[in-house]
Amino acid sequence: MKILAILSLATCFISAQAAPYTQRVAVTTNALASGDAIASGVATTNGLKFEIDGETSYFAGSNSYWIGFLTNNDDVDLVFDHMNESGLRILRVWGFNDVNTVPSDGSVYYQLLKDGTATVNTGADGLQRLDYVVASAEARNVKLIINFVNNWSDYGGMAAYVNAFGGSQTSWYTNTAAQTAYRAYIKAVVSRYIDSPAVFAWELANEPRCNGCDVSVLYNWIQSTSAYVKSLDPKHMVTIGDEGFGLDIQSDGSYPYSYAEGLNFTMNLGIETIDFATFHLYPQSWRTTNDWGNGWVTSHGAACVAAGKPCLFEEYGVTSDHCAIEAQWQKTSLDTTGVAADLYWQYGDTLSGGKSADDGHTIYYGTSDFTCLVTDHVAAINSST
Ligand SMILES: *[C@@H]1O[C@H](CO)[C@@H](O)[C@H](O)[C@H]1NC(C)=O
Ligand SMILES: *[C@@H]1O[C@H](CO)[C@@H](O)[C@H](O)[C@H]1NC(C)=O
Ligand SMILES: *[C@@H]1O[C@H](CO)[C@@H](O)[C@H](O)[C@H]1NC(C)=O
Repeated sequence: MKILAILSLATCFISAQAAPYTQRVAVTTNALASGDAIASGVATTNGLKFEIDGETSYFAGSNSYWIGFLTNNDDVDLVFDHMNESGLRILRVWGFNDVNTVPSDGSVYYQLLKDGTATVNTGADGLQRLDYVVASAEARNVKLIINFVNNWSDYGGMAAYVNAFGGSQTSWYTNTAAQTAYRAYIKAVVSRYIDSPAVFAWELANEPRCNGCDVSVLYNWIQSTSAYVKSLDPKHMVTIGDEGFGLDIQSDGSYPYSYAEGLNFTMNLGIETIDFATFHLYPQSWRTTNDWGNGWVTSHGAACVAAGKPCLFEEYGVTSDHCAIEAQWQKTSLDTTGVAADLYWQYGDTLSGGKSADDGHTIYYGTSDFTCLVTDHVAAINSST
């Protein structure tokens, strides 16, 4: 999801809205877990499914880009308590928050990119906030997908690297200075949580695209970066974080199936150091119908079966009629061989300062939409397995 976000003051609420079509088509703890815990607790693939804590099943989860930017530990705990009691097993979070100037209001940032230099912020207003997220998730048995950089400029993203190192968004993938800084950042994050069983997977980027590029550009970047992550941490899974664009299987020739954004889903999934595939679904932004989304889910499932690796239906959403539309996609996903888990966009809750960010896609804990898309979905998963 591309988020147009403004990070506010003390309570760190984020106002966000859905991306317009043009853009979319666009408590510090370092001693997290012992090596023994990881041996038994690390999530893995198991054929076309995921295995979490020894359980091979279909799993439900959600997305929260903002949880690592909260400054109140109780708010973080509340989210994971609610996820745990609801049966949501995986949360995808932003493991990046790049800035070009240090925020004057004291808000959280993870990395400063300025004048050709990258400085990771390991302070109380930096990665220590992500440390708390990992510790809290670990205590409540929720697994995390931790993403390293945004294609979009929300929370800095590739644009923040371009500002500091030059080039452009499409040359970012091959810009030596930008890639050196990106890898140093990956190393800083991975080494912090390398022993944590709370890490479900490392993720290269949020919705990487290289518009108009040959598919080899992203393929080469995915191959070399995922191999780098595996060289640092061979135990945890690695995935891309892409939208699932560029697919021949069951293609209807529509924009998302095309190779226009420089992605070849099948080719990228063949990379040995990529453990599973991701795909997203936003018919409103892609100008397809909601019903088209069901075919989008099954076509990716078929591609994952062919590759022998699971698919994660990683983001999906609409801005109205959530229950009617998204529950159908969930049902299709649960029924499709090769699709192993789904994470709706996005998780919402009532925190100490009020409601968490609402971009129109938010499903708030305790609402009837939550009952429909979480309680009922988890019950359906439990009775199907
Ligand atoms: C909630 O967390 C506790 C403690 O880690 C765990 O025993 C329990 O299985 C979790 N519930 C779910 C649904 O994962
Ligand atoms: C994300 O990728 C698309 C396609 O390459 C590009 O048009 C867009 O500008 C990117 N976003 C940013 C913030 O660079
Ligand atoms: C995409 O990748 C597949 C598998 O490697 C290949 O057969 C196909 O020709 C590729 N298509 C494009 C347009 O790159």
